[in-house]
Amino acid sequence: MSVGIGRERQFDVYVGGARGAYPRVPVSFDRLEQRARKAMTPEGYAYIAGGAGTEETIRENRAAFERWRIVPRMLRDVSVRDTAVNVLGTPMSSPFALCPIGVLEMAHRDGDVAVARAAAAEGIPFIFSNQASRPMEETARAMGDAPRWFQLYWSTSDELVASLVSRAEACGCSAIVLTLDTTMLGWRIRDLDLAYLPFLRGRGIAQYTSDPVFLEALQETLQQSPPPGGRITLAAIGSLWELAGSYPGSRVANLRSGLARAAVRRFVETYSRPSLSWEDLAFLRERTRLPILLKGILHPADAVAAIEHGMDGIVVSNHGGRQVDGAIGTMDALPGIVEAVGGRVPVVLDSGIRSGADVFRALALGASAVGLGRPYVWGLAAGGEEGVREVIRNLRGDFDLTLGLAGCASVREIGTKAVQHA
Ligand code: FNR
Ligand code: LAC
Repeated sequence: MSVGIGRERQFDVYVGGARGAYPRVPVSFDRLEQRARKAMTPEGYAYIAGGAGTEETIRENRAAFERWRIVPRMLRDVSVRDTAVNVLGTPMSSPFALCPIGVLEMAHRDGDVAVARAAAAEGIPFIFSNQASRPMEETARAMGDAPRWFQLYWSTSDELVASLVSRAEACGCSAIVLTLDTTMLGWRIRDLDLAYLPFLRGRGIAQYTSDPVFLEALQETLQQSPPPGGRITLAAIGSLWELAGSYPGSRVANLRSGLARAAVRRFVETYSRPSLSWEDLAFLRERTRLPILLKGILHPADAVAAIEHGMDGIVVSNHGGRQVDGAIGTMDALPGIVEAVGGRVPVVLDSGIRSGADVFRALALGASAVGLGRPYVWGLAAGGEEGVREVIRNLRGDFDLTLGLAGCASVREIGTKAVQHA
């Protein structure tokens, strides 16, 4: 009989230790982050670790979790536990998914593909970022039939939005997560001090440079100011870009070329759409039958508006404190949103999830699942695909034990009374 994933994970680690084998990456979040930092460039580390302004929101996310206390119950036969959930038809072996995170190549050269393999192996959905380092088709191929969603940024081109959504459908993504809180990048002091933005160096724009609509538009840009060497055809742009991406050694040379410069310029013109408003959602609703979740919701009235506009789910998120400094912690926003939503659509929460206790507390307050962000990126930097797997295994194990020790045999048994405000 299985003793449960938490105890199995503990045994694996302790038995390994008795044989002289230690965990591949640190179990502690802080030590994991330190290990990852050593494996990265200062710019890469700053971009991933950093938040907006004084980073008060990053701290507030943690503080908001820590204000809720779990109240364990005893003698409830928790010998067999069920940690699985299903959100909008997508199965999760434990109630979390991997958040969409851009520019994963800054953590590890295998980037999104390594994360995809790890997520698939552990039965945890991966939400592909619109700012990924690899085209979604390649990432999807690494996952077999394992569950995945696609995160969309609404660019200045509706045609590009439609193209990205239809590619996501063709890639087997089972939901679209539309991120609303990043129509402009927040004021990120660490990146400003290093004068470094990955996109301007041609990183994190693979969903664009693999897109037929983007490439078509890029051709126009090139015709307006052709690079030295003359006119380039659409097909040549596609294969040249692939070359630029797949040979790291020649990336710098390629970046100097007019093509890469034009792609970056076109991306900058395309990325941001601060004019986006509620009326625009109809366009997306008409273009896909997939469930759509709105990510970045922090006010109950916005959650209600999302439902009224035909959306299928809410992601309570402040983007890991990267957008509005001084913003409300997501655990403080959650109860009001859950109440306003009234069970009509699932509510997912991210920003600050670091442990099994955090997953438990979010579920106790009414979340259907949570998003894991920076911790898996540190795992990727510290140990590639295996590092991500270790981080997932640890969180799954930690959550399973917390669930049982709090007196619940399944996720369904976590009620609001399982926690108390400190
Ligand atoms: C992000 N996040 C993000 N969100 C999104 O919708 N699209 C994206 O491309 C990115 N990119 C991104 C890059 C990096 C380096 C980070 C740290 C975050 C936000 C992400 O999905 C999630 O909301 C946060 O990571 C949650 O906060 P924690 O738990 O990581 O602190
Ligand atoms: C960020 C964008 C990519 O947070 O979402 O950097």
